Amino acid sequence: MAILVTGGAGFIGSHTCVELLNAGYEVVVLDNLSNASEISLDRIKELTGKDLKFYKTDIRDREGLEKIFTSESIDSVIHFAGLKAVGESVEKPWEYYENNISGSLILFDVMRKHGVKNIIFSSSSTVYGTPEEVPVTEQTPKGTCTNPYGWTKWMLEQILSDMQKADNEWNVILLRYFNPIGAHKSGRMGEDPNGIPNNLMPYITQVAVGKLPRLGVFGDDYDTPDGTGVRDYIHVVDLADGHVKALSQIKKNCGLKIYNLGTGKGYSVLEIVKNFEEATGVNIPYDIKPRRAGDIAANYADASLAKEELGWEAKYGIKEMCEDSWRWQKNNPNGYSE
Ligand code: NAD
Ligand code: UD1
Repeated sequence: MAILVTGGAGFIGSHTCVELLNAGYEVVVLDNLSNASEISLDRIKELTGKDLKFYKTDIRDREGLEKIFTSESIDSVIHFAGLKAVGESVEKPWEYYENNISGSLILFDVMRKHGVKNIIFSSSSTVYGTPEEVPVTEQTPKGTCTNPYGWTKWMLEQILSDMQKADNEWNVILLRYFNPIGAHKSGRMGEDPNGIPNNLMPYITQVAVGKLPRLGVFGDDYDTPDGTGVRDYIHVVDLADGHVKALSQIKKNCGLKIYNLGTGKGYSVLEIVKNFEEATGVNIPYDIKPRRAGDIAANYADASLAKEELGWEAKYGIKEMCEDSWRWQKNNPNGYSE
């Protein structure tokens, strides 16, 4: 029995494939390569010494999905595939709803037609909106999203929850990721954003490697210890491991479960800059800029439920996150495209 990993060529998906193969799972990857390179799949094989099957297919392509579910014996699906650029989603809401929501609805329909009713879904801490209190637990009410990308996560959580409620043969795990950074230790796999990065760590590593001149720090007047935004950064390999642990939970017919995946510790933008400089010895020049629209002051996880129920907790600290992000960027200044 194999695990179907949609979006398996992407940043989190590729790291998860490594952990799945290392844990002895058979892996089938589906990706349309809209935001990924097939080279990441070669790296997965190189790092694990194991093989996987790849289908260059879109989740909106019903016939393509039918072919996969007919040819492979899929046991569970880990669903990463989706568009994820927050700013772009504001410019192109229809494209985001169509890709993420229509695509997922087709995937879920083909799954149930083939009797595959186990799914782990990539959600985001963005569903909490602007939480009244931090850290957030899974009981913290979902909030109002500031962009269509966030709403696709919010709505897909609702859709999967309703489907599970109506048919309890479904086992659904919603994983709410906090801020994934870092890369595989080997420096062979990592995040490869298109164009100028929107997220903090890839921006910092591109400043460090000389591709961008200076970091802009978006606001230093938040109600946080140093005035800059506080987030819960989590190493992508820890996040990947969370999916392997969640699969064991699925096997116990868990019904609907929701878990925060974070470290439980918040770092400000300036603390990240300082930690990066200390871990790598590279100086990061920065300027304080106005606040970015849609940003909140602080968000970090209470991740105790995942520890209690999945036996999962983050192993890597901020030093390793910075070192590993940097190793990947330094060794691959242009990501996979060289
Ligand atoms: P990514 O862009 O690297 O990976 C997504 C993958 O999905 C890409 O390989 C892309 O080619 C593929 N894809 C997109 N649309 C597709 C479609 N219609 N059919 C088939 N494949 C398609 O992003 P990532 O950072 O690895 O994120 C993985 C998942 O986790 C996404 O759902 C994302 O929204 C979610 N998530 C990411 C973060 C983060 O900070 N990276 C945080 C919270 C949640
Ligand atoms: C963003 C998205 C969120 C998504 C997450 C993961 C927004 C509003 N939220 O979260 O929906 O799930 O990415 O991909 O975009 N910062 C700077 N300078 C930069 C970049 C960022 O100061 O050049 C600051 C931000 O203001 C924030 C922190 O760094 O305080 C982290 O930002 P980022 O990496 O973009 O993640 P989030 O905003 O938490």
